[in-house]
Amino acid sequence: MSAQNPAPVKRIGVPDIRARKGDEPLVCLTAYDAPTARLLDPHCDVLLVGDSVGMVVHGLPNTIPVTVDMMILHGQAVMRGGSRAMVVVDMPFGSYEASPEQAFMNAARILRETGAQAVKLESGVYIADTIRYLVDRGVPVMAHVGLRPQAALAEGGFKAKGRSEDERARVLNEARAADAAGAFAIVVEGVAEDLAAELTGVVAAPTIGIGASASCDGQILVTPDMLGLFDWTPRFVKRYADLKGLTEDAVKAYADDVRARRFPGPDQVYRITRA
Ligand code: KIV
Repeated sequence: MSAQNPAPVKRIGVPDIRARKGDEPLVCLTAYDAPTARLLDPHCDVLLVGDSVGMVVHGLPNTIPVTVDMMILHGQAVMRGGSRAMVVVDMPFGSYEASPEQAFMNAARILRETGAQAVKLESGVYIADTIRYLVDRGVPVMAHVGLRPQAALAEGGFKAKGRSEDERARVLNEARAADAAGAFAIVVEGVAEDLAAELTGVVAAPTIGIGASASCDGQILVTPDMLGLFDWTPRFVKRYADLKGLTEDAVKAYADDVRARRFPGPDQVYRITRA
């Protein structure tokens, strides 16, 4: 390596995440832009550039219209913002389901153009062969089982899983298949508490829960949800701030000041002495 190269940034890597199985819980949040990534980075093990970006940033009704180009743009921004947490980028709907080869071409492009360390994909049992294909070719894969938002059109919405024995068996099979195929971590979304505990017990990879109970090996939330940016949040979200209220108050105060000519005040103008 040339002496002129800057010292490489040491981010949390795949072995660090795997080593946390049954140990200190993994702290994970979604991030979509550089300033937010900078704020989250010192506190998180994983920053996920989730395809939830389509809904929470772009105002889309679901994640289906999200593209690889969108994920790359947001992935690049998050990589610029953080320096310590692992960055994982979601593979959007239509970018990996057709064949393992399609998945590899898109995953390689995402890793190459963002510098992120891993991709995440929603993992029905049929996707296990694709996970194996990617892992064998050097692509670290985080799997996502249980409630899979990209299946919302087929399933008629976002519904928690684990109501029937069939459904429980299906989620357990998804997790076992992703684990056996080499996924280094598994996001478990929207499943009954006891199912999350059973699932965490049967897979070697650490599980990262969202609406899946404290028995998982880590937790993830959609950051704007936990910061209270929206009127409605799912039941499993704990709001740690009221960003919506704070923003509304700040914008109203600004509007009042502008209308009353209180802003800009003496401290906010340039006084330049002419030569
Ligand atoms: O897209 C996303 O934000 C996700 C999380 C909900 C895990 O997949």
